Amino acid sequence: MGSNVSDVLTLDDVRLGGKVVLYRVDVNSPLEPSSGAFLDDSRLRAIIPTLRTLQNSKVVILGHQSRPGKIDFTNMEQHADRISRLIGKKVKFVSDICGDRALTEIRELKTGEMIFLDNIRMHKDENSMKKSSLENTAKSEIVEKLSSVIDVYVTDAFAASHRNSPSLTGFYDSVPCIAGHLMSKEIDNLEIAVNDPPRPYVAILGGAKCDDSLKVAKNLIEKQIIDTITVVGVVGNLMLWASGVDIGERNKSFIRNSLGDDFEATWEMAIFLYKNHKEYFLLPTDVAVEVNGNRVAMNISELPTEYPIYDIGITTLQEIRPLMTDAGCILWNGPASYFELPGFAFGTIEILNMCTESPAITIVGGGHTSSLVSNRGVVDLVTHNSTGGGACLTMLSGGSMPVIESLKRSNDKFRSLLSHLGLNK
Ligand code: 3PG
Ligand code: MG
Repeated sequence: MGSNVSDVLTLDDVRLGGKVVLYRVDVNSPLEPSSGAFLDDSRLRAIIPTLRTLQNSKVVILGHQSRPGKIDFTNMEQHADRISRLIGKKVKFVSDICGDRALTEIRELKTGEMIFLDNIRMHKDENSMKKSSLENTAKSEIVEKLSSVIDVYVTDAFAASHRNSPSLTGFYDSVPCIAGHLMSKEIDNLEIAVNDPPRPYVAILGGAKCDDSLKVAKNLIEKQIIDTITVVGVVGNLMLWASGVDIGERNKSFIRNSLGDDFEATWEMAIFLYKNHKEYFLLPTDVAVEVNGNRVAMNISELPTEYPIYDIGITTLQEIRPLMTDAGCILWNGPASYFELPGFAFGTIEILNMCTESPAITIVGGGHTSSLVSNRGVVDLVTHNSTGGGACLTMLSGGSMPVIESLKRSNDKFRSLLSHLGLNK
């Protein structure tokens, strides 16, 4: 889609000391069901660099947690507390979004102070305008009220940048909208993966999101920027099946059930990709199945199996390794195995090791894969660990990214007005 940080405003373009900054983040985090405690706070950690840059501004943080009706749909109080601890400075939680209370708190902010407003998905417009145009999201009360008390809007909500809604896309026309450090880093790195990868370019697509993974594969093939697509995990099983290997009823049913209504379209896409582009794909040559809780190795020629396929095998890993060593760029999205099960972490951890050992640019897609990289403490050994799950896959598959579009529009309108607005460096 050709976006890059030169056509959006970034924190390097502006001086925000003393200004009121509305800072939209995506700190939507997995919570432990009984206690509500954070299971992974990576998205909170990822916004710290921008908060540090904004330490001489008046900062109003805005974000969402989960969706209305879900058990982890909470207010943002503990997000505010966790950020306070991470930056060592009080972040006051304000349980309002754009009512009088919020507007008064914002007007009374002093330089250096930070508040966190309530879960933006508690406001009806945020949920009802999900399919609206950017123009419509700009007409929401959320934008009208908040833009009257702020100087600029900064966003690091990359993980929601495939979504439309007033707090994500509605501010482009009222105030300068600026990409935060996290947003700039996400755009820069994913741009490399989707437009300009050093070759050879190797993608490892795994996990269970077969539909999204195949869209990514198709986009990279059509753009003629990919050299090898290694399919692992459930995506690997699907492509084996599409190549004519009988993976067994149980494994086929799992794929059918997990895709639900999307099965037919995804199956057709798998057949299409295999038939027309098989030269790009590296399919597993061996797997591991689970038999009564044990790992049992199996060559592809021994299939079908009545047991679930939960990992790739050693021969497959040996085929992948030299490709990873020689790659100029590696994209990894989705685990190679059911790694939470004892005995089946092997394939995924081996791929992780290959990524961290390779001299290539390594870009890791969000969700399970990036959590694994964070939990293993190897974030510094990959080039980029994305905070976006759906957003990352949408960008890699060439889909529309309304938040980036909104940033571009705001850049078009406001870049030449920065000095007039007292924001220039
Ligand atoms: C996410 O975690 O996927 C983002 O925060 C977006 O949330 P959503 O998928 O509920 O829109
Ligand atoms: Mg999501």
